Amino acid sequence: MDLQAQLEELKKSTQAQLQAIKAENAKELQDLRVKVLGKKGSLTELLKGLKDLPNELRPVVGKQVNEVRDVLTKAFEEQGKILAAAKIQAQLESESLDVTLPGRKISVGNRHVLSQVTEEIEDIFLGMGFQVVDGYEVEQDYYNFERMNLPKDHPARDMQDTFYISEDILLRTHTSPVQARTLDKHDFSKGPLKMISPGRVFRRDTDDATHSHQFHQIEGLVVGKNISMGDLKGTLEMISKKMFGEDRKIRLRPSYFPFTEPSVEVDVSCFKCGGKGCNVCKKTGWIEILGAGMVHPRVLEMAGVDSEEYSGFAFGLGQERIAMLRYGINDIRGFYQGDSRFTEQFK
Ligand code: DAH
Repeated sequence: MDLQAQLEELKKSTQAQLQAIKAENAKELQDLRVKVLGKKGSLTELLKGLKDLPNELRPVVGKQVNEVRDVLTKAFEEQGKILAAAKIQAQLESESLDVTLPGRKISVGNRHVLSQVTEEIEDIFLGMGFQVVDGYEVEQDYYNFERMNLPKDHPARDMQDTFYISEDILLRTHTSPVQARTLDKHDFSKGPLKMISPGRVFRRDTDDATHSHQFHQIEGLVVGKNISMGDLKGTLEMISKKMFGEDRKIRLRPSYFPFTEPSVEVDVSCFKCGGKGCNVCKKTGWIEILGAGMVHPRVLEMAGVDSEEYSGFAFGLGQERIAMLRYGINDIRGFYQGDSRFTEQFK
């Protein structure tokens, strides 16, 4: 093939290759340009053949070389523009936004129902001048039992089956040990002790709809001069009304706890039927909500508090029970499973 034909062929084949480049492979355009028009490209290569041509042909073929270069340079430019436009078009299409699609909701969390109940009760007691104190979930047998008037081998220890870590260390079975710890610290020359202590407690129990090996309690303790059963009753009546409604009444039934004397079980008139009897109160008109009593003199004495001069009352309630009653929750396990279908009901 003579040089002129080769030039013509280079032009045609380059044009064909250019057309074939797709938008997503735009980089190939640059490679092809270098291969054809670059310093070491095909056109330069053909140009070398010019010197072997007879004199009269050289200007003709030289002109043809320039033409081919011009045509191809333009073709590269054109195709470059086309590819760039196609790329933008493709991008626009892929990024197109369908404003009629429903938006993705960001889910906002909420306080756990037990935290809500706890905080609500804390607020009520803070308003009455109580302090909120923390206790230890891992506790000494000494505070959990002995200081609560449950010496070793006391039969009432069986009421609270326990997770022992060692002979003297256990997971606390109730929040009552915080009574002993705060009594030890309190300076009675500065006034009476009024505290509540919310927290988690543990018992060796088989989990079912109404039992859990861990649950939550709020302990309450008031110790000072001339504290009477009347103060206990007034305080509990007030909390019951705040928690379950202004027309609630309370009822005290005799009971037994080793750390209180006398001890009572506290019932609130049913908030659903008002006392007539229904499924919530099991037809009795009353719902048991907590245990309480006058602090046993021995509990005071063990803390070095003179039980002739000082007296007090204490109570213990369970947040799960309060929440289950209030919201009609019938399986305690719901509190701990973290299933959003449960937790989101308490937004
Ligand atoms: N500690 C008791 C329990 O877990 C609850 C309780 C009852 C606490 C009476 C008290 C109280 O402070 O006076 O079963």
